[in-house]
Amino acid sequence: MLFRPSEEHEAIRRRIRELAEKEFRPKAAHYDETGEFPAANMKLLAEAGFVGINLPDEYGGAGLDMLSHTICVEEIARCCATTAVIFEVHNTLHSETIAHFGTEEQKRRYLPALASGEKLGAFCLTEPGAGSDAGALKSTAVLDGDHYVLSGQKCFITNGGVADLYLVMALTDKEKGSRGITCFIVEKGTEGLSFGKPEDKMGIRASHTTDVFLENVRVPVSNRLGAEGDGFKIAMSALDAGRLGIGAQALGIAQAAYEASVAYAKERVQFGKPIAELQAIQWMIADMATDIEAARLLLYRAAELYSQPGRHSAQIAMAKLKCAETAMTHTIKAVQIHGGYGYMREYGIERLMRDAKITEIYEGTSEIMRLIIALAALR
Ligand code: CAA
Repeated sequence: MLFRPSEEHEAIRRRIRELAEKEFRPKAAHYDETGEFPAANMKLLAEAGFVGINLPDEYGGAGLDMLSHTICVEEIARCCATTAVIFEVHNTLHSETIAHFGTEEQKRRYLPALASGEKLGAFCLTEPGAGSDAGALKSTAVLDGDHYVLSGQKCFITNGGVADLYLVMALTDKEKGSRGITCFIVEKGTEGLSFGKPEDKMGIRASHTTDVFLENVRVPVSNRLGAEGDGFKIAMSALDAGRLGIGAQALGIAQAAYEASVAYAKERVQFGKPIAELQAIQWMIADMATDIEAARLLLYRAAELYSQPGRHSAQIAMAKLKCAETAMTHTIKAVQIHGGYGYMREYGIERLMRDAKITEIYEGTSEIMRLIIALAALR
């Protein structure tokens, strides 16, 4: 039993780390301050072949496993967490879901442009009244000849407005509750599809998060993903992949906080010696190192399981939970170690803390992760 990535995985890490260090880290503060969508970063990721890394090669992807994708998200987040979530949602929640559930015709129509980065994807499940209780969504899809007519409102949609393609969950049978939900591929530009303004967020400020409005949007039957009523299961399955991505984003943020804290503790002198020699600081660093190691082991194991047959939702939930809580706990500690400097925007440490918080919330809160784990344990 090996507890470390293969040499191929480490080669991918070296490549993406080089790109992220050179191109993303220097601009992370700028994107955080301005909220400008980091299109240039996504273009670089596409040119280097990282977008679509997890998609099958016959549709233009690199055909690599979920662990490779996980390492990419981790390394991007280590330098720019906002770019990591844009990349992650595109690759897993959106593109991977079409690869899993699409017809041959849908895969040929959409995946090559998603794999090349020519088109960006988004995933529309959440609604104002359906967050953790995703099955309570109210958007509808009514069959009318060879089209469905979609109506409703989605919210907190990552890549909203900037994405070209949207996976939209809507009810085709209101009587059946979550078993009446169906998934559709909706193209930007379709009449009746519009977007709210980007939300003003605490962290990951340059990833655009918007409402998505559906006003009698006509979607061809050929754009239904899966059968009528399969939408909730498709969404849950998509979230299994997505939660690995958010776990990786959290891990990358935690790693960045750890590295900055170690470096600062060695250089900052107080009481006549580097603060690294103070036990109070040493214990914080020790806890960071231990939690990050544990989070990484859980995450990589879950990513490997994802590529195996069967459902691995509980292991994935454990990984996301541990990574997110590690990121939150230790970015707070990183600010503490940096003292007053940690609180100042100029040093970029407080940004890690702001970016970390959302990983405990989106793609399933930590409470929902505990629910999934408990249900599996008590089954
Ligand atoms: N894969 C496949 N099928 C699954 C599944 C999975 N991972 N999880 C559940 N299902 C199936 C179940 O087997 C069940 O099937 P049957 O109808 O055949 O019995 C069906 O789905 C319903 O399952 P549950 O009874 O467990 O559903 P529930 O209503 O109790 O909900 C939940 C369970 C875990 C709470 C779920 O609602 C959930 O995950 N909530 C959180 C939602 C979430 O993560 N939202 C984030 C949205 S994305 C986002 O954050 C924005 C963004 O852009 C990044």
